[in-house]
Amino acid sequence: MHKGTARAYTNIALIKYWGKKDDALILPMNNSLSLTLDAFFTDTTVTFDEQYTKDVFYLDTVLQDEKATAKVSRFLDLVREKMDRPLFATVESINHVPTAAGLASSASGLAALALACNEALRLNLSKTEVSRLARRGSGSACRSIFGGFVEWEQGTDDLSSFARPIEADRFEDELAMVFILLNDKQKDVSSRDGMKRTVDTSAFYPAWVNTAGEDLTLIKQAIAEKSFTKLGEVTEANALKMHATTLAATPPFTYWSPESLRAMEVVKSLRKDGLECYFTMDAGPNVKVLCKKQDRQQIIARLTQEFSAEQIICALTGPDAHSIETEVTL
Ligand code: ADP
Ligand code: DP6
Ligand code: CO
Repeated sequence: MHKGTARAYTNIALIKYWGKKDDALILPMNNSLSLTLDAFFTDTTVTFDEQYTKDVFYLDTVLQDEKATAKVSRFLDLVREKMDRPLFATVESINHVPTAAGLASSASGLAALALACNEALRLNLSKTEVSRLARRGSGSACRSIFGGFVEWEQGTDDLSSFARPIEADRFEDELAMVFILLNDKQKDVSSRDGMKRTVDTSAFYPAWVNTAGEDLTLIKQAIAEKSFTKLGEVTEANALKMHATTLAATPPFTYWSPESLRAMEVVKSLRKDGLECYFTMDAGPNVKVLCKKQDRQQIIARLTQEFSAEQIICALTGPDAHSIETEVTL
């Protein structure tokens, strides 16, 4: 029996990954840059055993159906390529994050699974290698191997596409991200399908690809200068640009709900009142608010005038993914 357990935190991109140049290897069209967060994470235990006759997947203690298990099996197949004698596995995972709601469960989920496999099989992969492996499960997962600011270098092939931490002289410790949970139900269009449809059909997609590099340069300047204003402005503009591409897809779609728009307006009005903060959104209706850590209580107080206290969750910068002793038990 080969058993390993790992914890990985979610990350939210400030410069988004939106579109693949290689669907099979999960190579992205542009570099992305994220902040790893402490409030949402996944714990995963994987057990490989000679006795097992198939892969089994429990998520949040619930035995998963064939389709969900097949996705995990496809990832385990990549790990089995590294084994002399391939074995089936049982995966037990707890998401301390809503699943498939645009809150980056695939990032923490696949990062935790990749690291748990490394632990279970004593593969002794470097963090870069675990990042590459996690990328094959879900692109954004390669960034969750590291804490703080993280850049995913798009690369040109399997070997050269991985994430690495960005040295920021602890600027990341001055930040917070406040989540406004508007809907934690599973979304209609997964990130994978949404970005594929956009790449294949959106007339706005070339503009996204052509300007992603400039956005990345700007955000790296903001980090180097520790300029919160610049960081926030680029973050917000980049998210809006990503979401604009989906409206020009065929068939068109949007991840925004009326409540998302309301939340974005609230952020703007906070700003007008001198409380500096900026929003970003992913493949789902929930809105995330980037602010200075020192301002978070005031911002939470204002947001709870507009939304219920249960809808507001504050995250600070999270650490690297790591192995843990206590296995996930059912
Ligand atoms: P999200 O916004 O939550 O990242 P995605 O559409 O990108 O949504 O991905 C959701 C998918 O990620 C799930 O349907 C499942 O296949 C996978 N996933 C989420 N959590 C886990 C986990 N803990 N272990 C394995 N796979 C997971
Ligand atoms: C909008 O990593 O979930 O959150 O690689 O197909 O699994 P797959 O997609 P995923 O896409 C994330 C998209 C995003 C932006 C980001 O996290 O960079
Ligand atoms: Co995802």
